[in-house]
Amino acid sequence: MTSQQIRQQFLDYFKEKEHLIVPSAPIVLKDDPTLMFSNSGMTQFKDYFLGYREPRAPRIADTQKCLRVSGKHNDLDDVGRDTYHHTMFEMLGNWSFGDYFKKEAIGFAWELLTEVYKIPKENLYVTVFEGDASENLGRDEEAYNFWKSHIAEDRIINGNKKDNFWEMGESGPCGPCSEIHVDLRSDEEKTLVSGLELVNNDHPQVVEIWNLVFMEFNRKADGSLEKLPQRHVDTGMGFERLCMALQNKKSNYDTDVFTPLIAKVEELSGKKYTAVLENEKDIAIRVVVDHIRAVAFAIADGQLPSNGGAGYVIRRILRRAISYSYRFLDMKEAFLYKLVAILKNEMGGFFPELVKQEKLVTEVIKEEETSFLKTIEHGLKRIDLVIGETLSRNESTLPGAAVFELYDTYGFPADLSRIIAEEKKLTVDEQGFEEEMTKQKQRSKKSSAQKVHDWVILEEKPESFVGYDQTETETYITRYRKIENKEGEFYQIVLSKSPFYPEGGGQIGDKGILIPSYAEGFDISAPNVFNITDCAEIIEVLETKKENNLIISLIKDLPKDAGAVFYAKVNSSERKNTQANHSVTHLLHEALREVLGTHVEQKGSFVGPDYLRFDFSHFSKMSDEDLKLVEEKVNAKIKENIALEEFREIPIAEAMEKGAMALFGEKYGDKVRMIQFGSSRELCGGTHVKATGEIGHFKIRNESSTAAGIRRIEAISGDKSAEYYSELENQMKEISIILKSKDLAKSVQKLLDENTTLKSEIDSLKKAQAKGETANWKSDFVQSGDKMLLVKKVSLDAASVKDIVFQLKKEMDNALVVVISDADSKPLITVGVSADLENTYNAGSIVKELAKEIQGGGGGNAGFATAGGKNPAGIENAYQKALAL
Ligand code: ALA
Repeated sequence: MTSQQIRQQFLDYFKEKEHLIVPSAPIVLKDDPTLMFSNSGMTQFKDYFLGYREPRAPRIADTQKCLRVSGKHNDLDDVGRDTYHHTMFEMLGNWSFGDYFKKEAIGFAWELLTEVYKIPKENLYVTVFEGDASENLGRDEEAYNFWKSHIAEDRIINGNKKDNFWEMGESGPCGPCSEIHVDLRSDEEKTLVSGLELVNNDHPQVVEIWNLVFMEFNRKADGSLEKLPQRHVDTGMGFERLCMALQNKKSNYDTDVFTPLIAKVEELSGKKYTAVLENEKDIAIRVVVDHIRAVAFAIADGQLPSNGGAGYVIRRILRRAISYSYRFLDMKEAFLYKLVAILKNEMGGFFPELVKQEKLVTEVIKEEETSFLKTIEHGLKRIDLVIGETLSRNESTLPGAAVFELYDTYGFPADLSRIIAEEKKLTVDEQGFEEEMTKQKQRSKKSSAQKVHDWVILEEKPESFVGYDQTETETYITRYRKIENKEGEFYQIVLSKSPFYPEGGGQIGDKGILIPSYAEGFDISAPNVFNITDCAEIIEVLETKKENNLIISLIKDLPKDAGAVFYAKVNSSERKNTQANHSVTHLLHEALREVLGTHVEQKGSFVGPDYLRFDFSHFSKMSDEDLKLVEEKVNAKIKENIALEEFREIPIAEAMEKGAMALFGEKYGDKVRMIQFGSSRELCGGTHVKATGEIGHFKIRNESSTAAGIRRIEAISGDKSAEYYSELENQMKEISIILKSKDLAKSVQKLLDENTTLKSEIDSLKKAQAKGETANWKSDFVQSGDKMLLVKKVSLDAASVKDIVFQLKKEMDNALVVVISDADSKPLITVGVSADLENTYNAGSIVKELAKEIQGGGGGNAGFATAGGKNPAGIENAYQKALAL
C-alpha cells in the first residue's frame, strides 16, 4: 500500500464510523500565546475540550500537520539521529467530544489496525496508565478491562505518568492514555528478546504508533487538576510510523513518504544513502529530507523564516539542514530549494497549499540558503582568527565565550566550531559555552517572562463580541485573572459583551474605557451626558487580544466592584481611522492583483490608526508606473463610495463560490464572514467602513522587499493622507519663498545649471593659478646634496598640488619636491621626483616613510606618489623629516 492509500483508508474507516472528516489546521498557530505550532492533532480542538466553543460535530477525524520543535514536545535533537522522530509529521486522529469514550476508542483502534490494515495481533502491545500517587490518581482499570477483551493480558503493560498521562502543554486539557506499540523485528530477533522488554525503550523497530488519550482533566496554571465538564477522546497515530509498519520497512525513511526526497538528495549531492544509523552522511540525508518538509509546510502556511518567534524556529530548522549538508554532504551551494518540487509532487495532492505556494516556498528557501551559506563562510574566517589567537596564547581550548559569540551573533552552528577545532587538534571550552548559553536563556526569559494566574470566574455565561455593530454597550466582567510581567501587575478581563475588537487579521486591538455603574454622578441610562474627564473611577482598556476563543482586554487595576455593571466605550476616533485603513487594504489587494497579476496574495498585514502595511507575494520591485496605477485604482473605488456588504455567517463553500479571497495558513470554520466592497470579496473578521467614501484618500508612502518573493507596501489614508499633503504643500511654499519663484522645477533647474557653470569656471581658475604658482615655486628650490630640493606646506587641494608637481617635474631636472597639504584638515603628502633622478630617489618609498608621521598610507610610483593620513598633528614632523632628505 502506498502512503497515500494508507492515509485515505484511515479517513474512510472513521467516516464510516460517523466521524466528520476535516482538513488539517495550519501548522502555525495564530492566537494561542501558549503554543507556536500545532504539536498534535488535538491542538485545533483545544477550545472544544475546554468548553469555550461548541464542537462542529461530536465525532471528528483528520490528518494533522504537526511540528514538535519547541516547548513541551520537542524532538528536534533526535531528528536524523534516529529513524522514527520527525520535526514535521502527520498525526492521524479521531475525536469524540462528549460522545463515545474508552470502550469505543479502544474498539475502533483495534479493529482498524488488525482487521483493516491487517497488522498481525502478535506484533502488538498496549500500555495503560498505572496511576500516580502525587496526582491522587489510580490505575486506569477501565481501559485495562476493555483491552482484555481484545488482547492477551500479558501484552498489556503498565505505564507511568511520563508515558501514559498525556498533556498538551504546561497547562490545558489532559488525561490518562493508552498507547499501542508495534514490534517490527524479525522472528529470530523476537525469540532472542521479547518485545515486552523493548516497549518504550527507544528501540527503532519496537515503536509506539498510536496514542489514545482519555481527556478528563484540565491542568490549571497552579499545577492542580480539575475535572472537565465532559469526557472526551483524543487519539493520535504517527502516520510515517504506520507506513513503516504496513510497508514492512525498518525505518520511516525507507517508506515512500521519504524515498523520493532521498533519491533527489542522492542525485544532487552524488552521495548514496546507505541507511546506517550512525553514519554522518546518512544522518545528514535524514536531517535534510525531514527538515525540508517542516520548512516548506510552515512557509506555505504563511510563516516566513525570521529573527523572532515562530519564524526563528523555522529559520533554525532550515539552518540545521544547511549546516548538516555543508559538513557531511559537501554541499557548499544552495540546493535544498530543489527538493520543494519533489515534495509538491508527493504531497500536493492531499495538501493543495504546497501546489499553490510552490514558487514562494522555493524562492524563500533559496534565499535563506544563500545567505546562511555566506554566514558560514564569514564564520569560517572568524573562527580562523579565534584559533589563531588561541594558538598564539599557547592554549589548546577555544574559549566558550568566543564559540558562543560565533553561534549567537553570526548564527554559526556550535557543532561546526567543534569540528573545526578538532581538525586543528583543539577542543572547545564546553563549560564556558554552556554558561554563556544559560546566561542568554535567562536574559530572554527575564525579558519575556509573564506569570499568568488562573481565571477567577464571576459568571458562567457565554461571552460575545458586539463590536461590529456597537462601539458602546452595557456589559459586565465574566472572568478576570492577574498577570505579572516586567512592567508590573495587570488584570485581564473578559466581558459578557465586548465592543472592543481583539487584535487579529492584522488589525490592531481596540482601546477604550469602562465606566462602572456606581461611578459618582453616572447614570447608565444616559451614559453620554456624563463628563468622563471628571471621573476617577474610569477604567482604561489598554489593549484587547484574542486567546483561543476568548476576547481578553487588559486593564491596570481591578475595579472596586468587579461584579458591577459597566458601560464600555471604544476609543472611536482610533477605531474610525483603523477601519478606514483596513477597508483600504482590501481595495489595495484587489488593485494589486489587477495590476500585477493573480499570483499576488496577501502574506501579512498591519492595520492601525496611523498607517497600514501590506505584505504580498510578488517577485520583483514594483515600477513607479505600477504604483501610481494601483493608487489610482484604489482612489477611484474610494470615490465611487461603494457600500459595505457584510455576510456575517455564511457557509464557507458559498463564500468561496462567490469568489472570496481566503488566506493561506488561516484557520476558517464552516461558517465565515465575508466582506464585500463591489468586486472585492475577502474572508475577514475585521471592522470596516460603511462605504468606501469614508476612507477619504489613499496614498502609498513606500514599497520595499521583506524577504525573497515578498514585497511590502506602506500606505496611509483618510486624515493622515490629508496631513501628508498639507505638510508637502507647506514645504513647497517654504521652498518657493526661498527661491522667490512659483515655478519650482524651472528655478531648481536654473540653479543646477548655474552651479555647473560655476564649477567649471573654478576649475579653469585653479589651473591658471597652478601655472602661476609653478613659476613662484621654482625659485624656492635649494641645493641639498647632489639634488635640488623643495619642501612646502600649503593649503591647496590635492588636484592643484598634483598639477603643480607635474609641471615642476616637466620643467626641472635633478629635482625632488615634497608638498604637505592640509586642505579640509586632511593631511596629504605629495612627492615628485624628476625623471632623471628616478634611479636614485623613489617617490613611493619616500612618501611611505613620511606618511608614518601622519598615520597614513598611500603609494604611487618612482616619479610621483601621494599618501593621506589621519593625524594632522604629525604634519610638522613630516615636514622636518622631508627637509632632511
Ligand atoms: N494528543 C495525543 C498525542 O499527541 C493523541 O499523543
